[in-house]
Amino acid sequence: MKARVAVLISGAGTNMAALLYAAKAADCPYELVLVASNNPDAAGLVLAKAEGIATWARTHKGMDRDAFDALVDEQLRAAGADYVALAGYMRILSDDFVARWAGRMLNIHPSLLPKYKGLNTHQQAIDAGDAYGGCSIHVVTPALDDGPVLAQTPVAIARGDTAESLARRVQFAEHQLYPATLAAFVSRERSPDWLLGRVRELAMALPEADEVSSHGMPCFGIVKGKKFAYFTHDHHRDGKTALLVKISGADEQAQLIELDEARYYRPAYFGDGWIGIRLDLGDTDWDATGEWLRKSWLAIAPKKLAGLMAVAEDF
Ligand code: GAR
Repeated sequence: MKARVAVLISGAGTNMAALLYAAKAADCPYELVLVASNNPDAAGLVLAKAEGIATWARTHKGMDRDAFDALVDEQLRAAGADYVALAGYMRILSDDFVARWAGRMLNIHPSLLPKYKGLNTHQQAIDAGDAYGGCSIHVVTPALDDGPVLAQTPVAIARGDTAESLARRVQFAEHQLYPATLAAFVSRERSPDWLLGRVRELAMALPEADEVSSHGMPCFGIVKGKKFAYFTHDHHRDGKTALLVKISGADEQAQLIELDEARYYRPAYFGDGWIGIRLDLGDTDWDATGEWLRKSWLAIAPKKLAGLMAVAEDF
């Protein structure tokens, strides 16, 4: 299944177009499910419509930031978006909105970050006598044009360049960089190695945890004690990447499967005391995963050790 991406634009939308046309390749790991704008006249909307992509536009004028961002968020969720790509979206986002899409929202910025956040980036690079301008893709965090940089392309500044001439060349670089970076970003979250890395980080943070291999699966237990989690990838060719954790028994197992049968399953050969939780659906809640691991650890930890954890939690 392809990752579902919504793009937010305010203007020409050439970066959105680059994302859209890259998505037409059969092996592109994402698809565009919505192009949304705070500017009903944004030229990019016409192009998106012509290409059969759902669009939504509404002016932010006269609305406060939180209320407008809540409307946008509603649209993104209704479209079933897993990720948001900001592409020339010239609005500061509310902290709530950023928090809701934490780790799932990227932005493209026309400078080699951390240089020149904000506006007039090309003029600033020229005025500073820089040899290169360029563009960056970063994960969006609450601070403007901040957040971990995923990729950058330097673009040489030529003698006599103006902000406009440099901007035009940087756009060629942007149109290459954004689709490739977005594709790598959404794939990473589905790759077994990356998923195992996240599980390992959470599991190994529990007291006295260690990792061994069991039945060909990476597996986490208490040193010289019982196991509390297994990481399975395509075991017995079932095509699933999942975490197996301890639960209370058959009732809880049945309830979970009824609640969300795409995510939860009864792991073969493990019996009623375990649940399989798919990690390859693209919308894994890592806080919840940490909580599953902690509960599973508590279920098998020797009393003395479990008692220490309970004490720690009282603080
Ligand atoms: C792009 O150059 C993008 O880097 C920049 O706006 C332009 C949008 O063009 N973004 C920012 O300045 C964000 N701070 P487009 O609408 O043709 O994609």
